[in-house]
Amino acid sequence: MRILALESSCDETACAVVEDGHVRSSVIASQVDLHAPYGGIVPELASRQHMVDIVPVFESALAQAGIASRDIDAVAVTDRPGLIGALLVGVQFARGLALAIHHPLVGIHHLEGHLCSAFLDDPCTAQADLPPHVALIASGGHTELVWVEALGRMRVLGHTRDDAAGEAFDKVAKLLGLRYPGGPIIDTLAAHGNPETVAFPRAMMQAGNLEFSFSGLKTAAAVYLEKYGAPASEAALADICASFQAAVVDVLVQKTIRAALRCQATMVTVVGGVAANRSLRAQMGHACAAANLTLRLAPLAYCGDNAAMIGAAAFRRILAGTATPPHVSPSEALDAGCHPTVPD
Ligand code: KG4
Ligand code: ZN
Repeated sequence: MRILALESSCDETACAVVEDGHVRSSVIASQVDLHAPYGGIVPELASRQHMVDIVPVFESALAQAGIASRDIDAVAVTDRPGLIGALLVGVQFARGLALAIHHPLVGIHHLEGHLCSAFLDDPCTAQADLPPHVALIASGGHTELVWVEALGRMRVLGHTRDDAAGEAFDKVAKLLGLRYPGGPIIDTLAAHGNPETVAFPRAMMQAGNLEFSFSGLKTAAAVYLEKYGAPASEAALADICASFQAAVVDVLVQKTIRAALRCQATMVTVVGGVAANRSLRAQMGHACAAANLTLRLAPLAYCGDNAAMIGAAAFRRILAGTATPPHVSPSEALDAGCHPTVPD
């Protein structure tokens, strides 16, 4: 079964061909340069750029897969959550395409796509269900721990009460005069820094819950910079980046392990843009090994927003008989209407 998948919920216009769960092509037009001068995403500009990019991205995805539109068996599209104007571009394009080729159209929750991204390089990817696991979704818009019993049977165990992890990276990068998005830049600079230089707070680490808070960390960075001034050298900048990054990574890793133990899970996945962070990947690897947990990290190519993960989720839902047409919503929770059996 060949699925043509589309993703336009935020600032990437993406299209992929997924055949029996395996990626045949994945094309992404990033809007990073468009939004960089504003230090964040401007929704109106995002929608307009999706309009410009969607047809060329669709044509490239078909060309790279070596197929024509008549070879597609189903169309999948991210329908929620996201920037409403951005979502509508992908959904309307997908609706038109599905009508033209007389094949079904499937709506996919963006975070369900991210959940499936951890299994995109799995040879057993052509299966209806995901194995039971705890997922850490960490991106520019989301930071959540999720118990995944199976696709469609999920529970959000905890999420951020304020900024998302990626947002914290981006905001602190801005304070340091670095370009948007700051996550990858801080990641690179931190590799040469000493994470013990500044003792940034580990928010809510002591609380027994599985919630996150990153806005205090951003304030702590601002206060530090006000007190000591901008870093005077590359080495000082690297030290601040490493210290900040360690504070984020420590909390993400500890709370993920706590969640896995609480759910008696044997597997952990890490997905979303921040899953590309080298320190997070390494630290999560050590912690999971120590706790005897299997770790699946999203492949680097599929950490950020992409359409391959949307196609993979649609494929599993079609196999399971739980695929539904799109219903566009800017903010629907991942576990809305789900009824997992554990945990409370
Ligand atoms: O998943 P994504 O592409 O888009 C959203 O759905 O938000 O995530 C983008 C976020 C940005 O905040 C970016 O700074 C962050 O992921 N990010 C990183 C890294 N690569 C991307 N954060 C830390 N380290 C990285 N290597
Ligand atoms: Zn995303």
